[in-house]
Amino acid sequence: MSKINIAIDGPAGAGKSTIAKAVAERRGFLYLDTGALYRTIALYVLRKAADPKDRVKVEALLSEIKIDLEYIDGVQHVKLNGEDVSELIRTPEVSVCASEVSALAGVRAFLLDLQRSIAAEHDCVLDGRDIGTVVLPNAQKKIYLTASPEARAMRRYNEMIAKGEAVEYNDVLRDVLYRDQNDSTRANAPLKSAPDAVIVDSTKLTLEETIDAIDKLIG
Ligand code: DC
Repeated sequence: MSKINIAIDGPAGAGKSTIAKAVAERRGFLYLDTGALYRTIALYVLRKAADPKDRVKVEALLSEIKIDLEYIDGVQHVKLNGEDVSELIRTPEVSVCASEVSALAGVRAFLLDLQRSIAAEHDCVLDGRDIGTVVLPNAQKKIYLTASPEARAMRRYNEMIAKGEAVEYNDVLRDVLYRDQNDSTRANAPLKSAPDAVIVDSTKLTLEETIDAIDKLIG
């Protein structure tokens, strides 16, 4: 029987992961955070001190990488060659590097089968940049979740401050704008709304309001 796949795409910091997780939980679906896969490759590239924009070098490193996903109490854990790197991939340095390596066609091709095979086996909610456009063009529901860059940067900033990290709002905004630019102008699978996606702008919505709005849209 074919599985139900819900695609939630959009720019960094729009709240996709929190919302996708909540929507998946309400339905008992699997939640697949596809950004974590790009982040895992970025972590490996950083550890090897390779230039993330060096296509030949990064693509050569892919043969050394094995990524596995594990779900513990419903929470996604990502393993890089057997090591659980779920926390290590959440730094600002990895965010910027993930945006850079994700522009490479070889990196995207490397992760395509993994994403599709998980989606084929489970009812799931996937969040990313190109789920509705490239990975699962036939997904039953497609949402494009966005918000103003300032609102997205402020949310990220508040999250980081709450975790006790020393950050400046302007630095977070700069990273958000840099990633928006990179993710939406790359030649391979750029960030854009699928023609059949419903656009949700969460700039003026609370988290709860956004979850409810998306839940209603999914039906
Ligand atoms: O969603 P995130 O911030 O964890 O994603 C990290 C980077 O990975 C993001 O800047 C772009 C890239 N990415 C992508 O190109 N395609 C996806 N489906 C998910 C993430």
